[in-house]
Amino acid sequence: MALPRKVAILPGDGIGKEVVAVGREILELYRTKAGFPLELWDLDLGADRYLRDGTTMPEDVFAEIRDNCGAVLLGALGDPRVPNLEHARDILLGMRFRLDLFANVRPCRALDDRLVPLKGKGAKDVDFVVFRENTEGIYVNVGGNFKKGTPDEIAVNEDINTRKGVERIIRAAFAWAQNHGKKTVHMADKSNAMRQSGDLWQRAFQEVARDYPASSAKHVYVDALCLFMVQAPERFEVIVTNNLFGDIITDLAAALHGGLGIACSASVHVTPDGTPRVGLFEPVHGSAPDIAGHDKANPLATVLTVGMLLEHLGFAGEERRLEQIVQAAVREKKCTADVGGTLGTKATGAFVLERLARELG
Ligand code: NAD
Ligand code: IPM
Ligand code: MN
Repeated sequence: MALPRKVAILPGDGIGKEVVAVGREILELYRTKAGFPLELWDLDLGADRYLRDGTTMPEDVFAEIRDNCGAVLLGALGDPRVPNLEHARDILLGMRFRLDLFANVRPCRALDDRLVPLKGKGAKDVDFVVFRENTEGIYVNVGGNFKKGTPDEIAVNEDINTRKGVERIIRAAFAWAQNHGKKTVHMADKSNAMRQSGDLWQRAFQEVARDYPASSAKHVYVDALCLFMVQAPERFEVIVTNNLFGDIITDLAAALHGGLGIACSASVHVTPDGTPRVGLFEPVHGSAPDIAGHDKANPLATVLTVGMLLEHLGFAGEERRLEQIVQAAVREKKCTADVGGTLGTKATGAFVLERLARELG
């Protein structure tokens, strides 16, 4: 069954609003100019709404996303006025967990030699994808406090790893590698220190690897991975890891190919029979309060994210098309300062839209 073409648009906070404005215009252009049957549904959720009336994620909105949308385009959540980030947890982690979007796919692909900050390395050396487990680990909020506020205070966050959860993210990584002609899958853990969860990840990795004999399955400790990502990123094609390690290494990965302003991501549920389900698409970056409201945010991460979203909805080839336009923006320096240009958010978006309009004829 095809996915519904209804797309929930959730700009969120800070620069999320600025970059999603560009993403929305791209989707609108596909709708009006190329006749893609998209329905855009704008959602007023985020810190402003939360501070106004206490709403985080209404149940009816969540149900509509779950039952009748094919994708959610999300900017970022996080606002200094909400220090406990209650709204971000409900909305962002709420969707990841409750929609069971267990595969957080974060490509790390350099689109220009100039964007690779490593001495002696270029774009050809940085091209891998991280499969980050997205529904378990230390993010599940299982834990508690004891003697809070006293000198004897204890704080516990449990790291939850289920056989099912570990196995399915590893399987998704191998399947993706196989379908994309990649030979090597690295699993990164900290099994030398975290014995119980490490043991589970190690066994699941070896067992799933047996189902993919054409792939080379390699283990790497996550600390060493950070070293090798900087020293020899060309070693990596597909990396699979847990929720927290995946969060951390994908910011590092972003730095290898131009920074957070150009790093995209998708959170999806991969069903064994391939039945598509609603997915969540967001740039890797946050709300960047340090530059919010100044037209400085790079919208290209969101442009690439929209490419992943369209591909998810079944519009094959649009991810590649948008990637090529982003590559042109960088090459011609029609981009923001973080990737070597002089334009603002809006002008960068206008360049992308103009190129896209020309291509869509
Ligand atoms: P951040 O990603 O917002 O910013 C880190 C640095 O990168 C900042 O210097 C920022 O200016 C820069 N940056 C980020 N995106 C950029 C872009 N598109 N163009 C140019 N520069 C960009 O991380 P942070 O400062 O640690 O977090 C800010 C808030 O965002 C926090 O509340 C955090 O919890 C939240 N956050 C949300 C998400 C999300 O919603 N998916 C992701 C990460 C962080
Ligand atoms: C990300 C963010 C989130 C995460 C935060 C905002 C909870 O850093 O999407 O990378 O840790 O997953
Ligand atoms: Mn992060």
